Amino acid sequence: MPEADSRDDKDFHVEIPPPEQGYFLKGSGAYDWGMKNRLARIFRPDSGRTVMLAIDHGYFQGPTTGLERVDLSIVPILQGADALMVTRGVLRSTIPPTHRGGVVVRASGGPSILKDLSNERIAVDVEDAARLNVDALAVQVFVGGEQETQSIENMTKLVDAGYRYGIPVLGVTAVGKELTRDARYLGLATRICAELGAQIVKTYYVAEGFERVTAGCPVPIVMAGGKKLPERDALEMAYRAIQEGAAGVDMGRNIFQSHAPAAMLRAVASVVHDGADPDGAYELFEELAGSAVPV
Ligand code: R5P
Repeated sequence: MPEADSRDDKDFHVEIPPPEQGYFLKGSGAYDWGMKNRLARIFRPDSGRTVMLAIDHGYFQGPTTGLERVDLSIVPILQGADALMVTRGVLRSTIPPTHRGGVVVRASGGPSILKDLSNERIAVDVEDAARLNVDALAVQVFVGGEQETQSIENMTKLVDAGYRYGIPVLGVTAVGKELTRDARYLGLATRICAELGAQIVKTYYVAEGFERVTAGCPVPIVMAGGKKLPERDALEMAYRAIQEGAAGVDMGRNIFQSHAPAAMLRAVASVVHDGADPDGAYELFEELAGSAVPV
């Protein structure tokens, strides 16, 4: 049994960018046309980044605050995001098929918030994903969790299925309550997702060592939002993640639970795509929020 490699002197060469591969996204040069085209619907080729709006929470926690009526709270602000992360149920029932942004469909599920969340199965057939014309499939990976192997198998099966149709997979690193959310853990979890085939990885921001997490992951990392923070703090977190190598954000509650979700989306986009700093982005938020008409 190999020993865990917990040395502290690993060198991620964070100052050296990854090699150019003839495609704008890190580690993505060898994919087929269809997969590259789908990735370009999620990540903007001009900035190489994405603002993904996550509204898939209902798949395990039902009607989440802010998502009680997706038709009223989310549909009107959809155009502010580059991509939407959503369940296929809400996609079919509520998102207009005229929507032109990227679509990432939640493809794992099973347990509710009342049970062991790591006990997920694959919840979408790849043929249905192709029928829905989705741009990526998202799957939760519980490294160190009770059902670690099963969740990783969910991901690798989706990666195999995705390659048949040119659909990339977004591996979402889920951190159980009993695990420490630090750079060492996230470095382990994100790298496992990429090594086993995920073309995009979603993970949390950590104040210490996040640049080592992004440098050590050979494919793009998008920052997860997490629980609702004051808007200024959420913008600061997004700013830092981008400065430290994230290729975008995938935020939910910090956008749709804001008192001005459209303004927050625009402010996040200014950080991700336009190089705004937290002060500039917050100023923009306040200005837009002040003129916002409540939905
Ligand atoms: C859970 O782990 C999911 O990926 C989410 O339901 C969602 O994407 C979380 O978004 P946020 O934490 O930004 O509200």
